[in-house]
Amino acid sequence: MWCTYAMGLWFGANLIASDMDAHDYCKYQEDAEGSVEMPDSNRCVSGGDVMIAFFCVLFGGLNLGQAGPGLSAVAQAKLEGGKIFAVIDKVSEIDSSLDKGLAPSKVEGKLEFRNVAFSYPMRPDHAVYKNLNLIVEAGETVAFVGPSGCGKSTAVALLERFYDPDGGAVSLDGTDLRDLRLSWLRAQIGLVSQEPVLFSGTIFDNIACGLVGDNGAASRGAVEDAAKLANAHEFITSFPGGYATEVGEKGVQLSGGQKQRIAIARAIVRDPSILILDEATSALDANSEKVVQAALDGLLQQKKRTTIIIAHRLSTIRNADRIIVFTDGAVVEQGSHDELMRPDATGHYRSLVVSGNSLGTSAVAAAVAGS
Ligand SMILES: Nc1ncnc2c1ncn2[C@@H]1O[C@H](COP(=O)(O)OP(=O)(O)OP(=O)(O)O)[C@@H](O)[C@H]1O
Ligand SMILES: [Mg+2]
Repeated sequence: MWCTYAMGLWFGANLIASDMDAHDYCKYQEDAEGSVEMPDSNRCVSGGDVMIAFFCVLFGGLNLGQAGPGLSAVAQAKLEGGKIFAVIDKVSEIDSSLDKGLAPSKVEGKLEFRNVAFSYPMRPDHAVYKNLNLIVEAGETVAFVGPSGCGKSTAVALLERFYDPDGGAVSLDGTDLRDLRLSWLRAQIGLVSQEPVLFSGTIFDNIACGLVGDNGAASRGAVEDAAKLANAHEFITSFPGGYATEVGEKGVQLSGGQKQRIAIARAIVRDPSILILDEATSALDANSEKVVQAALDGLLQQKKRTTIIIAHRLSTIRNADRIIVFTDGAVVEQGSHDELMRPDATGHYRSLVVSGNSLGTSAVAAAVAGS
């Protein structure tokens, strides 16, 4: 450091001295009257010039050294920014903002999976379905049951067109879902998913957003009616803010069961043609589950609509028109509860019931006794 100072000043002094040696106008000269004439500052290196250059180089160097970590942060930000822009610029294969496709005026609600093959893009080597064939008739209430990971929720993801099948087709009333307008298709389906997501905003906003796409403007009455049906009205009104209570980012300020009930209200507020309940009551206590289940049963009886219920607690799906048992992405058995409990049935459902992994012991006893 000190050597650098010494070098700089020595070099500057050298420049001044060599200018003085080379040019008379760079020398201090005494005229005839005895006054000293200064060197020509425009043409000669002066002490001031040396000091300016010296400090510029010194401070510039120091600051450039300090900018190092900042520059590496800029380089890192450029790298990460590139990834973000790649995601933003990516054209989605399934784009819900496009107005393309059919939007039939009437929906019967018949759903069909024909020779469906599918694996998730993140795990292309693991086929969830190899050749799934399944029909849900219009107005029918079916239940999907089966061990965890057998592909029940994946069927929902394909129906909502979160993904498209790799082979075969999924259709609604005989029309391939890929030919339907996506926003229209999703407006026909009310979904309570296994992990319900709420949006930052009030409880009212969260239930009312179930209406958007149908008639946009949400009436207070419709939202309250849906909340009552979902057994949510009571706990909502017990909050000081009532329906204006903020739920927080992703609903963090609510319990799992409360979130689920709001998600149920959001799904039923628009009275959808197809209702999908994926473990809709799994986070509720036994009492709340009974009430919500009764509300959902009432809802199903109120209007014939295609309904898919996915549940591990088999007591909740006993009354379904048809129970479809999945194993490893294939349908292995289907029929009503009574049919599937008969001794001549293949026994997949019966063994699920008897193993009691999904029923309480008393419910198992009741199911077996009632079969
Ligand atoms: N987003 C994903 N990416 C990759 N693989 C996935 C994804 N979601 C699910 N899977 C895999 O697909 C298979 C079927 O999952 P799915 O969610 O349909 O099971 P499930 O029958 O609904 O199970 P559960 O009863 O536990 O909800 C599983 O093996 C799972 O690991
Ligand atoms: Mg699931």
